[in-house]
Amino acid sequence: MSLPNSPVTYWEEKILHWERLRYSQWLFFYPLSWTVRSRLNSSVKIIKKRLQTDWLVLELGCGSGIFAFNIANEVGHYLGVDIAANAIALAKKKNRHTQLQFLAADIMKISFEKKDVVIFLGLTDWLEVEQLRELFSKLHTNNVFFSYTETKVVSSWNPYYYYRIIMDRKSFKYSYRARNYSEVEIRKLLKDFGYSVEIIKPATLLNPGVLVWGKK
Ligand SMILES: C[S@@+](CC[C@H](N)C(=O)[O-])C[C@H]1O[C@@H](n2cnc3c(N)ncnc32)[C@H](O)[C@@H]1O
Repeated sequence: MSLPNSPVTYWEEKILHWERLRYSQWLFFYPLSWTVRSRLNSSVKIIKKRLQTDWLVLELGCGSGIFAFNIANEVGHYLGVDIAANAIALAKKKNRHTQLQFLAADIMKISFEKKDVVIFLGLTDWLEVEQLRELFSKLHTNNVFFSYTETKVVSSWNPYYYYRIIMDRKSFKYSYRARNYSEVEIRKLLKDFGYSVEIIKPATLLNPGVLVWGKK
């Protein structure tokens, strides 16, 4: 088996399979899928409540557009960006909405226009602090809504701890793995870029995923 040697190949090999396992209704009881489903369901509800129809929405790490298609009826203008060209090709194929646009690109290599809200789910953990800071320095938005995995909850008795070690491990050739963040780190990041912090969904013992809203 060849091992991925860049973020692009890593994600192109992983993302569609990952989405099938996490979101398929036939694999409802697949271990740990429910935390990802819960993140999707909560995020959809939150965005539907807060979104104004004329808002320009940018989603980073959008995969094949699962979140986008869930909010399609509420959103006026949406751009989803993902590094995996195969996920973006699938999103474009499934897309029946003129207001939804998708782009294959590495978010660390492009610049962004002004948006009303920038959303990223399941992406923070794949970026190092310096990368997050670089990303925030080029976002032009008064609202950011994103998820991260809380360090404090992912300790050795938590099944997620082993998931991270086994499933999100570094590959041999390409050093790339998911990490967790603490609330202190996230609060500092947002404060440094001028955002006030609202923890909308805190981590729980069984679900280490946090949903945060930053507002300027
Ligand atoms: C864990 S998945 C989450 C996908 C989707 N947001 C969800 O919650 O189902 C992380 C996503 O981020 C994308 N991604 C990772 N690094 C990226 C980068 N540098 N630029 C753009 N997308 C990236 C991956 O291709 C993948 O689709």
